Amino acid sequence: MRHWTFSIDSEGLGHLVLDHANARVNTLGSEVLAELDQALVEIEQTSPKGVIISSGKSRGFIAGADIAEFNEFSDEAQLRESLKRAHALFDRLESLPMPTVAAIHGFCLGGGLELALACTYRVATKESTLGFPEVKLGIFPGFGGTGRSVERAGALAAMTAMLTGKNYKAPAARRIGWLERVVETPDRLFWAARKLILGRKTVRKRPVAHRLMQLKPIRGYLAKKMRQQTQTKANPAHYPAPFALIDLFEAYGRTSKSMRAGEIERFPAMMLSQTSGSLRQVFFASEALKKVETPFKGRRLHVIGAGVMGGDIAAWAAFSGFDVTLQDLTQDAIEPALKRAESLFKKRLRKQPAIDNARSRLRADVKGEGVVQADIIIEAVVEKLEVKQPLFQRLEEQAKPDALLATNTSSLPLEDIAKGMRDPSRLVGVHFFNPVAQLPLVEIIQGAATRPDVLEQARGFVAAIRKYPLLVKSAPGFLVNRVLAPYMFGALDRLEQGAKAEDLDAAAVAFGMPMGPIELMDSVGLDVCLAVAQELGLDNQQDNSLKQLIGQGKLGRKSGQGFYAWEKGKAQRTLPSGDAELGALLLKPLVDTCEACLAEGIVQDAESLDIGVIFGTGFAPFLGGPLRARALGVV
Ligand code: NAI
Repeated sequence: MRHWTFSIDSEGLGHLVLDHANARVNTLGSEVLAELDQALVEIEQTSPKGVIISSGKSRGFIAGADIAEFNEFSDEAQLRESLKRAHALFDRLESLPMPTVAAIHGFCLGGGLELALACTYRVATKESTLGFPEVKLGIFPGFGGTGRSVERAGALAAMTAMLTGKNYKAPAARRIGWLERVVETPDRLFWAARKLILGRKTVRKRPVAHRLMQLKPIRGYLAKKMRQQTQTKANPAHYPAPFALIDLFEAYGRTSKSMRAGEIERFPAMMLSQTSGSLRQVFFASEALKKVETPFKGRRLHVIGAGVMGGDIAAWAAFSGFDVTLQDLTQDAIEPALKRAESLFKKRLRKQPAIDNARSRLRADVKGEGVVQADIIIEAVVEKLEVKQPLFQRLEEQAKPDALLATNTSSLPLEDIAKGMRDPSRLVGVHFFNPVAQLPLVEIIQGAATRPDVLEQARGFVAAIRKYPLLVKSAPGFLVNRVLAPYMFGALDRLEQGAKAEDLDAAAVAFGMPMGPIELMDSVGLDVCLAVAQELGLDNQQDNSLKQLIGQGKLGRKSGQGFYAWEKGKAQRTLPSGDAELGALLLKPLVDTCEACLAEGIVQDAESLDIGVIFGTGFAPFLGGPLRARALGVV
C-alpha cells in the first residue's frame, strides 16, 4: 500500500494510518479508497483487538474527498456505481467485529468525517475542526454521511451542520454527539482511543427525540421548517443542494440505512449539476490564487495614512500576526483607526490574551519611526499625486533596500506615482477594498516598471494576511472598479429614466448578486462612485440624481442617507420579488467589460478574472463568474 500502513502492536491493537503519498493533506481519492479495501481485508484476516485509524500528516486527519476527481464523472449511472462501492467499503468498516476508533487531530471534513462516523468511536484533540462543507460545492455528503451524522447527532443538529456547511471545533462536535472524547494534545489521542477499545465503552443510546424522526409526519414538519430557514439564505433556483438534502431527509430519513440508500440515489444529480460544476471551479480558482511561490518572510508592516483604508489595513494585518506601525499627520487622526481595530480584534479573536496580543502588535507612529525597520510599507494617504510622489521619494531613501514599497491608490497610475523615484521598479500597487475585513480580494497592481520579484513578494504578503491576491495590469479602474462602474452607471441611467431603485436591486438579486447596483453605490459611497466614473470617462457631465445627492452631502451608507436611508449599516427598504431577466440585462455591461479586460490582458486568464470578479463584487458564484456565465448563455 502506498497511502495506508497497517500494523498490530504488542497489546494486539491495530493501527491504520493514512499518509497520502503525493499530497500535503489527506484526501479520499479512488486510489486511497481502493487501498482502504485492501487494509480492511488485512484487518479481517488478522483480527486485532481493535483498530485505531489516524493520519500521518501533521496538519490534520482527512480534508475530504478528492474534489479533483469529481470532474471525471459525466454520467449519473457511472457515478452511482462508484458511490455504491464507496458505501460498501464504509459499511464494511462499520461492521468489523472489533471496535474501531477514529483518532482525529486538525481538520476532519466532508469524506473524512464520513469515514470517522463509520467507526465505533471518535476521539479528537480539542483544536480539531469537524464539518460537512459539501453544500459550498453544491452537493451534500455522499459517502454515507447524511444517514450516519443524523444517527449520531440527531436530525436537528446534523441537518443544521450539513445545511450550513459550518465548521465545528471538537468540544462543539462532542456536544452534538459526533465525538466520544476530546483530548488536550495529539499525544493523548492514542491513550484515549486505547481506553475506548479496551473498556468497550457502549455508544450512547439514541434519545427518544431521535427516534421520533422515524415518523413521516414529524419529518415532514421539520423539513418544512428547514426549507423556510434555508430559503432566507439561499435561492433554490441557484443553490439546489441544501433543498435536495432536505427532500432526502424527508423522504428517506426513517433510519440511517434508508437515508444512505437515498443518498446514493440522489447524490449524482447534484454533483453533475451546473451549480456544483461552477462552485468547484470557483474553489479551484480560489486555491490557485492563494498559492504563492515564495511565502513572505518579513513580519513588520508600516502603514502611512490612518484613514478608512490605511487604518483598516493596519488592523487586519495586526490581526493576522504582523507587527504594524501606523502613521498619520497627528495622533488624533490615528485614534479612530485604533478604536476600529479594537472592535475587529474583539469580534474576531474573542479571547482576551489573543486580543491583547493583537493590540500590542499595532502601534500609532506619528513620527514614522517604523519606516526604517519595515519589511513592507503601504501608503494609503489622500488620493493626490502631489502628496504621494514626494512621499515615495522619501521612503525610497529611508526604507530598507529590500523593503517592499506599496501604494493602495485606487485611481492614480503607478507610473505617475513612481516618477521621481530612483528605482521605480520597486513600486507595486496593493489595492484593498472597503470594508477591508470583509472583502477577501486584493488587486496586486503591476506598473509598467514593477519588477516580477516585487510582484511575487506583494502576492506573498497578501496571502500571509489571508486575503486573495489577484495580479492586475495598471490601467484605469484596474479590474474590479472598471467592471463595476458601467454596471452601476447603467442602473443609474435606468433610474433617471424612471425605474424604481427597489425594482433594479431586486432584479440583480434575482439574477444572483448579493445586492443590487443602487444599494452597492450607497455602500461604496456615492462620492467614490462618481470619482471612479469620471476616471473611466463614464460620467456624461450632466446633472443627475447621483450628483444631486452628493451635493446635499448624502453620500450613502457612511452618511446615513444616499439613494436609500441607512440605519445601523442596513438600507431601509423592502425589495419586491425581482425580475431575473432584467437582472441579466443590468449585468450585461459588467460582463462585456470583463471580456474587454481579458482581451486587453488586464488579468492573466479567464479563470483568474472570474474568481477576481466573484471575490471583488460578489458576482453570482453558482454561475462560476462572469465569463463562465456568458459561456453558459445566461448573460
Ligand atoms: P482617508 O481620507 O480616509 O484617509 C487618508 C488619511 O491620510 C487621512 O487620515 C490623512 O490625515 C492621511 N494623510 C494625508 N497626507 C498624509 C501624509 N503626508 N502623511 C501621513 N498621512 C497623511 O482616505 P481613504 O479612503 O482611506 O483612502 C486612502 C487611499 O486608499 C487613497 O489612495 C484611496 O484612493 C485608496 N482607496 C480608497 C478606497 C475607499 O473605498 N475609500 C478603496 C481602495 C483604495
